[in-house]
Amino acid sequence: MIEELITLAKRPPLFLESTAPFWDDDHISGQMLKTHLDPTEEKASRKPETIDASVSWIKGTSIKEDPSSILDLGCGPGLYCRRLAGKTTRVTGIDISRRSIAYARREAEKAHLLIDYHNKDYLTIDFTQEFDIVLLIFCDFAVLSPSKQQILLSKIYQALKPGGVFLFDVYTPCFPKYREEKNSWYTALTGFWKENPHICLHNQYHYPQNRAFVDQYIIIENNENIDVYRIWDQYYTETSIMELLGKQPFKKIELFGDITGREYTAESETLCAVCRK
Ligand SMILES: C[S@@+](CC[C@H](N)C(=O)[O-])C[C@H]1O[C@@H](n2cnc3c(N)ncnc32)[C@H](O)[C@@H]1O
Repeated sequence: MIEELITLAKRPPLFLESTAPFWDDDHISGQMLKTHLDPTEEKASRKPETIDASVSWIKGTSIKEDPSSILDLGCGPGLYCRRLAGKTTRVTGIDISRRSIAYARREAEKAHLLIDYHNKDYLTIDFTQEFDIVLLIFCDFAVLSPSKQQILLSKIYQALKPGGVFLFDVYTPCFPKYREEKNSWYTALTGFWKENPHICLHNQYHYPQNRAFVDQYIIIENNENIDVYRIWDQYYTETSIMELLGKQPFKKIELFGDITGREYTAESETLCAVCRK
């Protein structure tokens, strides 16, 4: 077992996947939902006041005064969808977590909001010229490998109406996390990863040439069960994000400092791209 752990804890090859599902795991998805709904935390969703500011800015990026159709990819429990939905705005939310989608549907029903929620992988969407705005919020685009990013971008391009916009955010090299590699561990009787007693070995590896980073969590539940969760991320400069987006035929791309439309500066920790078809 020790030898297996030593091997597992080594720097993984870029974009090596987790050995078990993360977002839709029965226990982890419950922990995630709690985090999404905690207004004091910014680990799974942004704080309510930031979401409110985002929503009014996002609506203004549409060429139409009132966008009639919005697609939110990785919508989680629907914090943006329910603020965006209105009498003349049809909102579609897609998320891989059954628990988040079930919660989002219940909330929409309670508030009599017409939102189409789908529990599926956003890499499998197949819409054609249906949306004025497509969103992917909280730096999720950058968790995908470069080949998956291009697949998703072309599906998003296809889903947009002419003149429609795709908005998403990513981290920049100023985000403090990317400055160091670390290893740590803890034990827990119950916790984020498992309901039962477990040990967590946490490795953080940086791949500076690829501007990539992984948080690798090795979870040892008992002598037989070891799960490895690898949360990948990539960070971008203005030049590298434009290079990536240049592979798709967007007519105009504007960059901002965050998803509320603040100006981008050399100190910005995030970068938000507004890509117009
Ligand atoms: C960091 S959370 C952000 C949620 C939401 N955008 C927000 O800001 O409140 C990422 C979300 O993306 C979802 N997700 C991750 N990978 C996905 C995929 N391949 N297809 C659909 N949803 C996915 C997760 O279930 C989770 O709800």
